[in-house]
Amino acid sequence: WVVMKTARAPSNIAVIKYWGKRDEKLILPINSSISVTLDPEHLSATTTVAASPAFERDRLWLNGKEVSVEGERYRNCLREMRARATDVVIESSGKVITKEVWSTLHIHIASENNFPTAAGLASSAAGFACLVYSLAQLMNVKEKYEGELTAIARLGSGSACRSLYGGFVKWNMGQEADGKDSIATQLAEQSHWEDLVIIIAVVSSRQKETSSTSGMQESVKTSPLLKYRAEEMVPKRIGQMEKAIKSMDFAEFARITCADSNQFHATCLDTSPPIFYLNDSSRRLIGLVERWNRHAGEPQVAYTFDAGPNAVMFAKNKEVAVQLLKRLLYQFPPSAEADLSRYVLGDQ
Ligand code: DP6
Repeated sequence: WVVMKTARAPSNIAVIKYWGKRDEKLILPINSSISVTLDPEHLSATTTVAASPAFERDRLWLNGKEVSVEGERYRNCLREMRARATDVVIESSGKVITKEVWSTLHIHIASENNFPTAAGLASSAAGFACLVYSLAQLMNVKEKYEGELTAIARLGSGSACRSLYGGFVKWNMGQEADGKDSIATQLAEQSHWEDLVIIIAVVSSRQKETSSTSGMQESVKTSPLLKYRAEEMVPKRIGQMEKAIKSMDFAEFARITCADSNQFHATCLDTSPPIFYLNDSSRRLIGLVERWNRHAGEPQVAYTFDAGPNAVMFAKNKEVAVQLLKRLLYQFPPSAEADLSRYVLGDQ
């Protein structure tokens, strides 16, 4: 026999960035972060997990290619999920897979992204959130405390803990050494702020040169600005951002989002050797948005960039989004030479 479950999890984009760990193994961050979960139509991972006594070992396929499942991150997620498995009844035969049986079963995992892997669009976030969620379905895992599954997804990739909820999500850095309180919580549902439109400008789908994992390690080791950011700036911004989201204050949301993205990239430049994630197209986009907002008198559009050159932009409403798209297509005409090749427009 074989039991199987499929699930889909969206990616998320941080508006207050996570950058730096205080514990590499448990993936505990040096600051809290806030993100917006994206529309699964455009950016998501779909994962199928299966278990059978016929499987001889755990196996993993990413976008159709088999890769090793021996990495610590996968092992940690699988171990924590197996430990929480409960009885599952196979419908066709009435046979029960007990906790003891689960501990002996091997798992096959097949995961696909509908967007470029490792181009700075948080593919690991969607991937690990989806893995943990689909395993929870397969193994009938019930959370003992709220956010327990987010803490397991965190063991796969820090940003993954935020992808288990939709809408606006906060990852509390937590204080405990075992990471039990380093969990994600939902600040507001997606429907809370329906006017907001997210536009993703794919500037490049190439793999980034410095992964987030190694980039943040270098920043923790060498950037004095990062320490200031994590200890002084982010705690203030978290409070301000929570308030802006709650009251749907776009001007404040945009101000903090852009400032935090720019400060994150400043800490990358402050790292030794410096890390460059933005390219010329990214910088042109920043210029365009800054001029747009100055001209309008108050922010209409916000931008943010993760560990790559692709922009995620927020427009105040649909009208602004349509105008912005027109301007983007004019300034970055899609052609063989143009860097900016694709736009994805979604109502979140
Ligand atoms: C810039 O979650 O990919 O996107 O925990 O090492 O897997 P690991 O790193 P990852 O880092 C994400 C960094 C970021 C900012 C963010 O998403 O908050």
